[in-house]
Amino acid sequence: MSTKYVIGNWKLNPASLSDANALAQALKDGLGDVRDVKLGCAPSFVHLASVAGVLDGTSLWVGAQDISAKTQTTGAYTGDVSAAQLVDVGARFVIIGHSERRAYHGEDNAVIADKIRQAIDAKLAIVLCIGETKDEYQAGQTLAVLDAQLAVLDGLNVPAELLVIAYEPVWAIGTGLTPTVDEVIAVHRHIQANLADKQLPNICVLYGGSVNADNADAFAAADEVGGALVGGASLKADSFAQIVAAFA
Ligand code: G3H
Repeated sequence: MSTKYVIGNWKLNPASLSDANALAQALKDGLGDVRDVKLGCAPSFVHLASVAGVLDGTSLWVGAQDISAKTQTTGAYTGDVSAAQLVDVGARFVIIGHSERRAYHGEDNAVIADKIRQAIDAKLAIVLCIGETKDEYQAGQTLAVLDAQLAVLDGLNVPAELLVIAYEPVWAIGTGLTPTVDEVIAVHRHIQANLADKQLPNICVLYGGSVNADNADAFAAADEVGGALVGGASLKADSFAQIVAAFA
């Protein structure tokens, strides 16, 4: 069984730089030497450089929650942060296509493809998020929705070693609801088959959506679950550490 990933997506948290640094320090103290799970955290842009400094030299990777679709380097793109800027301050991966970006910022496959291209050129690892809404789930459209979202990869020639997929049902994010483990296994098998058809075999597929210290063991027990992308439960070092322990 290959090494699993546990990645914390801090979203728009915490409220202050000092709290972000304190969380990073707590992760470093508790998990800085973990080698049997690949660990990452994605602070907000304004906290990223500082958190990367705290975690420098540890096994925890720091990543970004987004990336400019427009430029690799610099330019007149107000509000954007480029791949080169991210790499310069210590980012090693980027989350692309999170449902909150899709929902609140209108990101579609065209924008997401441009962001993936920027990450590839900068050799940033990519955590590509896909997932269906509650209506789509209830209508039995999950697999078709995921296939349409994965179509973004067609023609991009993403190096397999840079790609991780996070399956995050939108209705499970921050709700305390999750699919059953059997449902997640079936979806992950479908994603793997889809990726194999794209000549991307053996890509790690994470599950995300209300993963916590209580349910992590059940997801971790499935070979098909390559790890977890964790939101709320990543904001406390002890609950994050319990999730990491489940996937170790
Ligand atoms: O990126 C993380 C996901 O949106 C999951 O968030 O663990 O708070 O449900 P959550």
